[in-house]
Amino acid sequence: MSLHLQQDQPSAWVRRFAPLMPLGLALDLACGGGRHARLLASLGLDVLAVDRDPQALLATEGERIHTLALDLERPGVESDPAFPLLAGRYTGIVVTNYLHRPLLPLLLSALADGGLLVYETFAQGNGQFGKPSNPDFLLAPGELWQAVSDHPDRSAFHVIAFEDGYTASPKPAMVQRICVRRGGSAADNALG
Ligand SMILES: C[S@@+](CC[C@H](N)C(=O)[O-])C[C@H]1O[C@@H](n2cnc3c(N)ncnc32)[C@H](O)[C@@H]1O
Repeated sequence: MSLHLQQDQPSAWVRRFAPLMPLGLALDLACGGGRHARLLASLGLDVLAVDRDPQALLATEGERIHTLALDLERPGVESDPAFPLLAGRYTGIVVTNYLHRPLLPLLLSALADGGLLVYETFAQGNGQFGKPSNPDFLLAPGELWQAVSDHPDRSAFHVIAFEDGYTASPKPAMVQRICVRRGGSAADNALG
């Protein structure tokens, strides 16, 4: 069984922000073994969990979780009727340990009003700690924040939290993380 199927604890970043997602339909993109799909379902969200790996999807299946096998990087996939990133569809989106840059603006557009995108993956410099080390899979400094700034509907988004640097847990790595809300009121974005 591959590593991503063994890793079952939700990320601390996702655990922190998932409870802020309004109830509705959530997306776990490149879900792997489904650790975040299960977390979102346990919070009462209906979840669409997408991955190209059928074995991963078998491990992900559960109550409130619908699975979809799809290669998100196949040329022309955006025209596939099953393509999940439709505008305004989700109250929550989670992406962890996966990067396909053309999807970044579509992920933001796929948020419903008040919806939250929680994204966490490896960043440049991670090669010193192991894989991934291919620059295609490593975020440049500030890249997730830049994706929000570059979105044509920039003023619709509020960055609630952003981190970019070294982490020792769950293993030494360079990571970048963002939590972004679309719309919502000032009270929705209160920090405490
Ligand atoms: C490192 S795992 C992360 C899994 C999960 N997000 C997590 O953090 O536990 C990366 C996942 O991306 C999926 N993936 C990679 N390329 C993909 C593609 N082109 N389309 C859909 N899924 C893909 C893999 O099958 C794998 O499950």
